[in-house]
Amino acid sequence: MEIRVFSDFKSASEAAAELVSQRLQSKPNFVLGLATGETPLLLYRNLIERCRRGKRDFSQLTTFNLDEYLGLAPIHPQSYRFFMNRNLFDHLDVPREQTHILDGSASDPQAACADFEKAIVESSGIDLQVLGVGSNGHIAFNEPGSAFDSRTRVVDLSDDTIRANSDGRFFKDHREVPHQALSMGLGTIMETREIILLAKGKLKADAVQRAVEGPVTENVPASILQRHPQCTFFLDEEAASKLTKQMLSDSSH
Ligand code: GLP
Repeated sequence: MEIRVFSDFKSASEAAAELVSQRLQSKPNFVLGLATGETPLLLYRNLIERCRRGKRDFSQLTTFNLDEYLGLAPIHPQSYRFFMNRNLFDHLDVPREQTHILDGSASDPQAACADFEKAIVESSGIDLQVLGVGSNGHIAFNEPGSAFDSRTRVVDLSDDTIRANSDGRFFKDHREVPHQALSMGLGTIMETREIILLAKGKLKADAVQRAVEGPVTENVPASILQRHPQCTFFLDEEAASKLTKQMLSDSSH
């Protein structure tokens, strides 16, 4: 695991965008795994900017998103499909049919999960996966207790996650948040060739410390990343504040 700490989250996001951009350059038909939530927004803005400046061609890109709320149709404003279209895909030259997001309104959600796994295999696997982390250590919607060998499936959301996602940033009221989701499994995520995880702010400091320095345990899903051969964390100082070991810092202060 490589840990990179930056003086602010904007710098962390720019460095992450630079890494993604370099990888995209190395392979035109790149397969990129994407995340939702507040954390990757600056990274996405930076990629859009690079596309506008004509510096990147996304026409051969394929993407897979980590998760989706069960019961929300793609046109629902709180669905992750809606989020991704608005915050990234509407602004890139990537053909929409090359962007894969689990359909929360699928009539057979288990079959949708199996099809999603199949599509990843048919694309020859994910080259680089972008992750955020929940304050309870979840990645995608793999809550504490998720099996390390789990695959894409229907999952229950924890009360912590429902609360975190109904603080006004996304849902205004916890009663509006679906209690289940479709999520890539931890086993699926661990098969991706490279992973970058971004975390911002002191609310994530405990989860980051446990993921990086704690035991590898299913109680902290992100701790599995210690076993990934190519995983880099991009952190601002607050998110890194509970790490006890000396970390190499990218900050310019
Ligand atoms: C959600 C998503 C995760 C995301 C996490 C953190 O539960 N399913 O993929 O990483 O929340 O979200 P945020 O970046 O808004 O803090």
